[in-house]
Amino acid sequence: MFRTHTCGALRIENKGQQVTLAGWVQKARKLGGMTFIDLRDRYGITQLVVEADAPADLVETATSLGREFVIQACGEVVERQAKNPKMPTGDIEIKVSAINILNKSVTPPFTIEEESDGGEDLRMKYRYLDLRRGPLQRALALRHKVAHEVRNYLDAKGFMEIETPYLIKSTPEGARDFVVPSRMNPGQFYALPQSPQTFKQLLMVAGYDRYFQIVRCFRDEDLRADRQPEFTQIDCEMSFVEQEDVLNTFEGMMRQMFKNALGVDIPGPLPRMSWYDAMDNYGSDKPDVRFGMKIHEITSLVQGCGFSVFDSAPYVGAIAVPGGAEYTRKQIDELTEWVKRPQVGAKGLVYVRCNADGSVKSSVDKFYTPEQLKAVADACEAQAGDLLLVLCGEKRKTQTQLGVLRIEMGNRLGLRDPKVFAPLWIVDFPLLEWDDETQRFYAMHHPFTAPKPEHEKWFYSNAKEDLERVCANAYDFVLNGSELGGGSIRIHNADMQKRMFEVLGIGPEEAELKFGFIINAFKFGAPPHGGLAFGFDRVCALMGGQDTIRDYIAFPKNNQGRDVMIDSPSEIDASQLEELQIALNPKAE
Ligand code: AMO
Repeated sequence: MFRTHTCGALRIENKGQQVTLAGWVQKARKLGGMTFIDLRDRYGITQLVVEADAPADLVETATSLGREFVIQACGEVVERQAKNPKMPTGDIEIKVSAINILNKSVTPPFTIEEESDGGEDLRMKYRYLDLRRGPLQRALALRHKVAHEVRNYLDAKGFMEIETPYLIKSTPEGARDFVVPSRMNPGQFYALPQSPQTFKQLLMVAGYDRYFQIVRCFRDEDLRADRQPEFTQIDCEMSFVEQEDVLNTFEGMMRQMFKNALGVDIPGPLPRMSWYDAMDNYGSDKPDVRFGMKIHEITSLVQGCGFSVFDSAPYVGAIAVPGGAEYTRKQIDELTEWVKRPQVGAKGLVYVRCNADGSVKSSVDKFYTPEQLKAVADACEAQAGDLLLVLCGEKRKTQTQLGVLRIEMGNRLGLRDPKVFAPLWIVDFPLLEWDDETQRFYAMHHPFTAPKPEHEKWFYSNAKEDLERVCANAYDFVLNGSELGGGSIRIHNADMQKRMFEVLGIGPEEAELKFGFIINAFKFGAPPHGGLAFGFDRVCALMGGQDTIRDYIAFPKNNQGRDVMIDSPSEIDASQLEELQIALNPKAE
């Protein structure tokens, strides 16, 4: 046996025991004649000490140790003179009697400690070294624990884990596909699944009425902190269910995960908010409800007073920033520049200071009486000391900008505590989204999502305004401003599916080409069904209190979609290209 204990196991109760540990040298330092060594493995760090009067060869070995050497050390557990209450093993150290160097290491390119001195790029290149660090090990341990809880919960509820293929054909999630050329079918390509959506629906047709899979999905889209080109879903589908059944089942799963993996109670039942309310009040379909600062429409209160910017705007809205009346002119100017950045896209910002003494002061004082501004402040539920920030323009666009500003102010004011969890369901999404540019409707979720039964009358109407008000039987699970999951009750009737394709401007031939297999399967007795998928990486990151999912994935890609450790993507041999009968565009070469 290489070791009797791990580096995180020993406590004062073990005092006097002879033990053997194995691990990596995090640090070795000489103090007086003694050598202190921090020995690390994924369970913790234990301090080893080689006394000044130890045999000369032992002292020499201890002195020769470099960072990240792998060693085995034998010795006695003794009580430490200077205890370290920050370390679980901080009451003891090992008085070493023998050291065996199992392997040497070259000097690592950055420090492998809780906080590293290495930059992001360097740590990505040496990911296996970064993964030795505590924060990453804890992140992956949490991920493992959450996956375990998911399987426990779903297994107990009768769900079967079934794998679906990766080499498939385009799926309907709407991002770009990653494609894989087929050598055996020259000129033809597989697409990697953006989700197992169509397969899980086929499994429902096949009678596997409760399916789940912790599954990799692939989407060629622009990357952000919470987006990776390959990511993992907890993908689920159920037959003979209505929306209510799906929400209850997965609310239960989230509750068990939070309780067992994190020790956090999620009180139930979870709040539900319509998509319309989310947009009107929070300017986002994934509202962070840990704090207020809601958006208020003030269009009718500010129009007709001679301020042409507001008079000509279809919508004027505001948020009341708590304590913001103290902002200096300079701070407000900075905020004005901030909302004008392309990422936010507002044209300008109007402010109203609600001073502590009850007076008001605004950037539009010329057009409004103090009484009018007070009426606006009241409509926004502003308190004395608040600052109103006002934007105007097209309704949904302006609400979205106010939503982005609200989140920014929430961050600046420290209102977004990562240890507070405020989950909710967003329901009643519009089924369809009109695109002015292409003059057609797109499915807001995907083309298999069913309309709400009570809205079917509008779904079969040809009037644009009717189609625009059809709500979908769809739902998103939102936590702290992040969309963790989403799904819907599906269309299971061939006629309704046909109508959906018609509304989306997908002709019968195109529908047949893209989704013929599923349309055909639906002719053979498809049960009513619905489901959802959670973004597993996002779930883990949020549980761990982080916005970025990268640290919860063992080997992630960088923002350019590159794995800098293995240097991928990379060119392939001319012979491989030839075999695939692919000629590169000279520009790419
Ligand atoms: P959707 O496209 O909403 O639904 O995806 C489900 C969840 O997956 C996560 N997610 C991502 N996570 C990391 N990186 C990405 N690039 C990424 N894209 C999505 C999100 C999202 O909520 N088939 C449907 C589900 C269904 O209808 O059952 C689907 O894939 O957390």
